Amino acid sequence: MNTPSDPHKPVEPVARGPFLLSTWSFGERANAAAWPGLARGGSALDAVEEVCVFCEDDPDIDSVGFGGLPDRDGRMSLDGCVMLSPEKSGSVCAIRRHRHPVTIARLVMDHTPHVMLAGEGADEFAQAHGQQQEELLSPGAAEAWKKWKQDRLPADQSRDQGVRPFDRDSTGNLFAAGDDESRWNNNHDTIGVLSLDEHGLMAGACSTSGMPWKVPGRVGDSPIIGHGLYVDPQGGAAVATGTGELVMAICGSFLAVEEMRRGAMPREAVTEVLERIAARSDLEPTHQVAIIALRPDGHWGAGALRPGFRFVASDATGHHVLQPEVVQLPGT
Ligand code: GLY
Repeated sequence: MNTPSDPHKPVEPVARGPFLLSTWSFGERANAAAWPGLARGGSALDAVEEVCVFCEDDPDIDSVGFGGLPDRDGRMSLDGCVMLSPEKSGSVCAIRRHRHPVTIARLVMDHTPHVMLAGEGADEFAQAHGQQQEELLSPGAAEAWKKWKQDRLPADQSRDQGVRPFDRDSTGNLFAAGDDESRWNNNHDTIGVLSLDEHGLMAGACSTSGMPWKVPGRVGDSPIIGHGLYVDPQGGAAVATGTGELVMAICGSFLAVEEMRRGAMPREAVTEVLERIAARSDLEPTHQVAIIALRPDGHWGAGALRPGFRFVASDATGHHVLQPEVVQLPGT
């Protein structure tokens, strides 16, 4: 809490009432779709699933669900997870025939004694639970893959880490575009979403098609509990986006929640995660990581390793596309 004797301490944003926090500006449309249900007293779990399903359905989002970019060999695979608490989580990775990994992850949570299903077994499980099979490679993504394949030497194809995700506003313009920023493409990364409902229940989910042009079989942070997402009703919730390998090296989401469990504000928790990543000796210009965090008492915050990340906070006043206050390497 701010006191007169501590006038320089930053004011920490706090949610009062139902709340949604999503990664990237495309989260604005997704939050808007999920908001009416949450505002009417719906559950945080339904809201986070709905945000992810919205993005998985949108062929223009080239990093999530249908429309996502494929692996090196032109094949799609999707990852996602959902979490309420250390006792209640579900996850799927390397899904090839079903569009909605978060819905399947919720089915895993609700109908199996397991946390994570992978590959063919996860697709079979989805089918057995009534999920529709379909082709996941969109015509646009197939075109993009053909162009990538033509433009890259075969020897370089397995080393490609994609482009650095960089957000644009709803008109397609780069936020605060400058010469340095115009070299980045706009394919964003994981949709990650955290919610607090009017009953005080917290939930989180994330969904991704993973790194574009990845080596077939690669799985990133997003579907792995504690890496891409962690929720603990005693500590808080955090979800990461960006280069999964960097998040996986430090159990990024778990670390943020653990910091909050020990009393840190979300801003301090995400700073701890980003400081550890920024200290790596092998950072590449294409690397980006961003993390959003929410405490059970409604305090929330966000941070990014580099400029170019936006996130969306939704409450009864509307859907607000925001820049993170913490940017660990601002000049990069
Ligand atoms: N953050 C998504 C991934 O690395 O797959």
